[in-house]
Amino acid sequence: MSYLPIQQLLKSATVGTSVTVKGWVRTKRESKNAVFIALNDGSTINTIQAVAEAGQLPDETLKLITTGACLAITGQLVESQGAGQSVEVKIASVHIYGPADPDKYPLQPKRHSLEFLREIAHLRPRTNTFSAILRVRHALAFAVHQYFNDNGFFYLNTPIITASDAEGAGEMFRVTTLDPINPPRTDDGKVDYSQDFFGRETNLTVSGQLEGELGALALGKIYTFGPTFRAENSNTTRHLAEFWMIEPEMAFHELEDNMNLAEDFVKTVIRYALQHCADDLAFLDNRLKEEEKTKKKEEQSELSLLEKLQFVISNEFVRLTYTDAIDILVNSKPAKKGQFQYEVSWGVDLQSEHERYLVEKHFKKPVILTNYPRDIKAFYMKQDEAQATNSRGEVLGQTVRAMDVLFPGIGEIIGGSQREDDLDKLVTRMQEVGIDPETIWWYLDTRRFGSAPHAGFGLGFERLVQFVTGMGNIRDVIPFPRAPKQAEF
Ligand code: 4AD
Ligand code: MG
Repeated sequence: MSYLPIQQLLKSATVGTSVTVKGWVRTKRESKNAVFIALNDGSTINTIQAVAEAGQLPDETLKLITTGACLAITGQLVESQGAGQSVEVKIASVHIYGPADPDKYPLQPKRHSLEFLREIAHLRPRTNTFSAILRVRHALAFAVHQYFNDNGFFYLNTPIITASDAEGAGEMFRVTTLDPINPPRTDDGKVDYSQDFFGRETNLTVSGQLEGELGALALGKIYTFGPTFRAENSNTTRHLAEFWMIEPEMAFHELEDNMNLAEDFVKTVIRYALQHCADDLAFLDNRLKEEEKTKKKEEQSELSLLEKLQFVISNEFVRLTYTDAIDILVNSKPAKKGQFQYEVSWGVDLQSEHERYLVEKHFKKPVILTNYPRDIKAFYMKQDEAQATNSRGEVLGQTVRAMDVLFPGIGEIIGGSQREDDLDKLVTRMQEVGIDPETIWWYLDTRRFGSAPHAGFGLGFERLVQFVTGMGNIRDVIPFPRAPKQAEF
């Protein structure tokens, strides 16, 4: 008698042997002659069926075998008579680890809405949909580490608590040991941070990039993969207050190399998921097909989830400048008919509706947009030599070597750039946007001593998981979502 997770058992156990399976009851069905129990242990989307003859199990045991109860079942592995599975367990004995009162257990063998499951986020990993998502999430995380390891990158752990605002966007969560209501104050009435744990104002990191640059300018190629925090009050299906970001940073890479890496990286990890999560992705593909059927014909997606993933890994991403994209958008049907909610012209930050128009309607492919206006991007991006001009040769403005990768259904999945490696230009830019160079003197040291061209990007891990699993809401692809007014545990 051996205990194996169901995933391994279905792959390797031989018919006729005695096995023990452990897991949670999905369903129990009783017929005149037999009791059928479907058990799942989270190792796979597949359940294993266990069968007892009618009358074989005592009534008190049978009563406790309800959806959600946790059991160990021992018996012989036999070929299954029923449809849908090749083997099943002929029950010899059942041990009940923990019952689940059917009147109180919120998960029942029916399709629950995602909204309802969000309210019971502590139990939703026990559903097919969420366990599939979590396994795909794991596989993608593994593929990320594998990709960078195979390509000569070093994993650099950057600080979670930091004194710097890497994006300069002021969307930070404060970290303090001072009394928040009544903090000590200096004579001029300001909060006295010298009494704080670190002796200064500190925050949760919004990005590991600045420290990542230190790493790249010492180790050559590094990547980070850790939690990041943004106190932006965006109640959208694409934003979390706590999300995981992957940030590679490479010395001796320019914008073009950065784009090549981003495209190869994202295709490789998606390919990995397709190869290693076939059962889970087939399940999620089906789930999405059912969901699509409930939509109006014109809103239904042309491609299924699996077709979309296949399409992305086998087609080149479109590359074009922000200036060219604005041209397309300004001349697009929705712009002319006033159908965009936000107006679009050179210099504005693109809204998700504009990004999605380019990707989903115009090119019908992932798009890498480059060379954005300097004023809508972060201070550290390298300035282009020439300013952008329109078709009549009129100057539109200064641009930077930025790149955003835009995906269908998601919008921006990656943001990155070549970095400004010229000390004077960087300091001037910081002063222009009101960042005191003294506060990140250590960052500027990389430009003072042995500066080098370098570039990098950030991939929002949950947006990748969203794309691969086809989930519409980012809160459904992270085990414990943190969003405005949401932090139960
Ligand atoms: O574009 P962002 O803000 O860029 C940076 O933080 C750079 N420091 C990255 C770099 O160059 N090293 O964020 C990068 C990505 C976005 O493209 C998006 O996928 C994701 O992080 N992201 C979020 N994901 C979930 N919730 C949020 N609130 C997010 N904000 C950004
Ligand atoms: Mg961005």
